[in-house]
Amino acid sequence: MSPHLLSIDSLSRDDVNHLIRVAARMEPIAQRRKITRVLEGAVLGNLFFEASTRTRVSFNAAFCRLGGTVCDTTGFTFSSMAKGESLYDTSRVMSGYCDAIVMRHPDQGSVAEFARATNVPVINGGDGPGEHPSQALLDIYTINKEFTRLGKTLNGAHILLTGDLKYGRTVHSLIRLLSLFGPMRVTLVSPPGLEMPAALIDTVSARGLQITSRDNLNSDFSDVDVVYTTRIQKERFTQEMSEGFGVLSRDFTVDLAFLNQRCNNNTIVMHPLPRDSRPEANDLDVDLNGDPRLAIFRQTDNGIPMRMAIFAKLLQVEDQIEKDLRDVRWFVPKTIGVDDAGF
Ligand code: NCD
Repeated sequence: MSPHLLSIDSLSRDDVNHLIRVAARMEPIAQRRKITRVLEGAVLGNLFFEASTRTRVSFNAAFCRLGGTVCDTTGFTFSSMAKGESLYDTSRVMSGYCDAIVMRHPDQGSVAEFARATNVPVINGGDGPGEHPSQALLDIYTINKEFTRLGKTLNGAHILLTGDLKYGRTVHSLIRLLSLFGPMRVTLVSPPGLEMPAALIDTVSARGLQITSRDNLNSDFSDVDVVYTTRIQKERFTQEMSEGFGVLSRDFTVDLAFLNQRCNNNTIVMHPLPRDSRPEANDLDVDLNGDPRLAIFRQTDNGIPMRMAIFAKLLQVEDQIEKDLRDVRWFVPKTIGVDDAGF
C-alpha cells in the first residue's frame, strides 16, 4: 500500500481485505467499550477547503479515539491559500507540524499535488469531482457487514448506483473498489447529463464489472442487493448546466414505494450523505426512516472504525492496537440513535 491514500487505484484486493479486518478490530473502540492510546503524541492536520460535516468530524474523532490530537482548518477564507500560497508550500509547512494530513479541496487532482510535496501520509478527503477513497472503503466495509448478516457474498452481487454519477466522487471511488471484487453486476441510473464518465465505465468494465446504464428507475430491480443513492452535486454544475437543469423529477427518488414495488425484502439502501431534505430536491426519501433496509446511519457509524484502520495502517501501528486496551469509564447509551434497531 502506498504511503498516502489518494485513490482507490493504489489499493489491491488484499489491501482492502486487510483494512476491513483491521476496522473490525477497531469496533470495540469505535463502539466506546474500550480505549487505546496507540497514537498518543501524534498530531493530525485536518484541512477542509470544502463543505463537510461527517468526513471532517469522523476523521477527527477516529484520530482522537486512537489517542492522537487534531489541528484543523476549514474554508479558504481563513487559510494562507487566500493569500495565494501554493499547494506545495502549504503541504511542506503543514508537514512540519503534523504526522498525518487529511485534505478536502474543490479541484480534482489537488490532493495528489499536495501529497507530492511531503513524506507525511496524506489522505484524500475528496478532491472536487475526483475521488473520495475513505468513503468507498467505509462503504465496502458496510456492504461486507450487511452481507454477512444476510448470508450473502460480494461475488456475483448486483449493485444499483443512482443519482449524480457524473460529479459524485463517492461513486467514482466506489465503482473502482467494486471492480476489485468482481465478477459483479452494477446498474447505473442517472438523470440525463449526469451519467458516470465513459472512461471510468471502460476501466471498470475491463476489470470484469458487468455494467448496465439506464436513465430511469422504472424497471424490475428485485435481484438488486444494494441501492446506493447520491445527492445531485449542483455546486459543481457549470452555469450552463445550472440554467438547463430544473427540479429533479420524483422519478429518481428512492423511497418506500420504490423499495417495496421494485426491490426485495433484503435490498439495503445506502447513501454517502448528506441527503438533501428540501422537498424540491427529491433525494433519498425520509419515509424509509426506521425501515431496517435503510443502512445509512449504520454506514456513517462504520466511518469511525474504517478511518481508524486507515490511520493505523498508514502510521504502521495496526499490530499494536490491542496492546494497551483499557475499559471505558463514562456513560454510553445502549443504542446510539433513538430509532436504532438492535443489530
Ligand atoms: C459526499 C462528498 O462530500 O463527496 N459526502 C461525504 O463525504 N460523505 C457526498 C456529497 O456531498 O453529496
